[in-house]
Amino acid sequence: MATEAFAPAKINLTLHVTGRRDDGYHLLDSLVVFAGAGDRVSVEPARDWSLRVIGPRAEGVPEDDGNLVLKAARLIGGVPCAITLDKHLPTASGIGGGSSDAAAALRALHALDGRPLPGDTLPLGADVPVCLSARPARMRGIGERLDPVPDLPSVSLVLVNPGVAVSTPEVFRLLSTPDNAPMPPELPQWRDATALADWLAGQRNDLELPARTAEPAIGVVLSRLAETEGCLLARMSGSGATCFGLYADAVAADDAARALRELHPDWWVEACGLA
Ligand code: C5P
Repeated sequence: MATEAFAPAKINLTLHVTGRRDDGYHLLDSLVVFAGAGDRVSVEPARDWSLRVIGPRAEGVPEDDGNLVLKAARLIGGVPCAITLDKHLPTASGIGGGSSDAAAALRALHALDGRPLPGDTLPLGADVPVCLSARPARMRGIGERLDPVPDLPSVSLVLVNPGVAVSTPEVFRLLSTPDNAPMPPELPQWRDATALADWLAGQRNDLELPARTAEPAIGVVLSRLAETEGCLLARMSGSGATCFGLYADAVAADDAARALRELHPDWWVEACGLA
C-alpha cells in the first residue's frame, strides 16, 4: 500500500531581503503561504530506494540523487521505499517545487511507519523547513526561523509562469542592495482578502527587480495579471519567474485564469485557493 502526501506550491506573499551573511546567504523576512495547486509524492516499501517522476511536468526532472526528494529520503533513513513524484508545478520557478516535494516525501515516509522526521532540514535547502510545516508562516533568518500566521482571510490565487526557468543564485547576485527594511515587527490581522492585499501593497518582493532584469517576461506577466478584472495585487513569488494574482473569490480567479490562458496559451496558468 502506497502512502501519499501533497506538495503544495509555496508562495512568498512578501519577500524582504534584510541582509547578507558572511557565507553569502541572504537574510529574509517573508510571509509564506501554500497554494491548493501542487505535486503529489507517494512512497511504498521496496528493496532499495528509488524515484520515478511522472505527470504533466515530469520532463527534465532528475530521478537520481540530483533530486532533493532522494536527498531527503537519505536524511530520514529507515526502510527503503520506491518513491513516485507526480509533477504538476513548473521547476526552478520560485514556488518551491523541489523543496515542497522533498518536504512531502518526508511527511509521506513519516506517515508510512512513524519514522522520526529529521530535526534539521535546512541543509536540504532554505525553503525546506517552511515546506515541511506547509502552513502560513513568517519566515526569517535564511529560512530557519518560522512563526506561524494562523489567521489569514480566505483568498483566491492565480499562479502564472511564462515558461522561463530562473536561477535563484543568479537573482540574488543581481540584487544591488542586500540590506533592506524588514516587515513591521507585528503583522496585523486582516479582516478579508481586500484588507490583506492593501497591506501587502505596502510590502515588497525585493527579488522582483533583479529577476525582471534577468528575465523581462516577468514584467509582462505582472502587467497582464494586474490588468485582469478583480485582481487585488500582482507580485512575483520567491526568485521567480512564477507570479501570483490575489482575488477575493474563486469565481474572479477562475475568470482571470481563463482570460490569461486565452491571451497566452503557452503560459502555465493555475487558479487555486490556499492549501
Ligand atoms: O538553499 P537553496 O538551495 O534554496 O538556495 C539556492 C541558492 O540561493 C543559494 O546557493 C544562494 O546562492 C541563494 N540563497 C541566498 N539566500 C537565501 C536562500 C538562497 O542567497 N536565503
